[in-house]
Amino acid sequence: MTVSGHWGSSTSFDERHPSLGLFITFEGIDGSGKSTLAGSVFRKLAERLGTDRMVMTHEPGGWDGGEVLRETLIGGDLKSVLTETLLFLADRAEHVERVIRPGLGAGKVILCERYSDSTLAYQVFGKSFPRGVVEEISAGGRFPRPDLTFWLDVPVRVALGRIVARKGKPDRFEKDGPLLERIRLGYGTLCHEEPERVKRMDGTNDPGDLADTMVSSIMALLMKKGGWR
Ligand code: TYD
Repeated sequence: MTVSGHWGSSTSFDERHPSLGLFITFEGIDGSGKSTLAGSVFRKLAERLGTDRMVMTHEPGGWDGGEVLRETLIGGDLKSVLTETLLFLADRAEHVERVIRPGLGAGKVILCERYSDSTLAYQVFGKSFPRGVVEEISAGGRFPRPDLTFWLDVPVRVALGRIVARKGKPDRFEKDGPLLERIRLGYGTLCHEEPERVKRMDGTNDPGDLADTMVSSIMALLMKKGGWR
């Protein structure tokens, strides 16, 4: 389905990444289990493809020097959603140029925790930042479109329970239940807009089964692209 003018349109993403590289993103609200899943998908895929063929990365801060921006974004106390959005996009621009674009150019399979859909879900759908501004800047940065995005969907109540069990207390994004509800709905909208790219996975299912399903989808995509060798 093509929805003109939305984030996934060709005006926002750079389609020209080499055919053998594969760009996979993991999305979801905090506490959805993305990191655990991405880690096990990486290990399972590495058994088949070898670690040399793969890159595991994340946003924000997934590049050398990105820790400062990450610290400001996660640990800081930013008052303006404009500052927050611009810093997430600036972080992405460096991440794309230093990690993602070169990796795709070298034919790697890139697994990335959080990417452009996070900005849409959190800043645009969650905090009402204008979508057009995000799209314009993303188009300016020629950010590559993910080949496949796994949206780990869990009810907010479940996610908050996991966060408290893990950390003892939620951080600034995580403690706002209604905000997380809007973000979750935002992911639903993105999935509806681009059903071919954004796959909803029920994050309450068994993690081992989820990882196996994801690995199968990635392998199928790799074969389709002729990159299985
Ligand atoms: P992080 O500690 O990496 O958590 P997680 O394991 O859930 O990814 O924190 C990243 C936080 O930044 C998370 O709350 C989502 C938020 N975020 C945005 O709000 N916008 C963005 O564009 C990105 C990449 C992340």
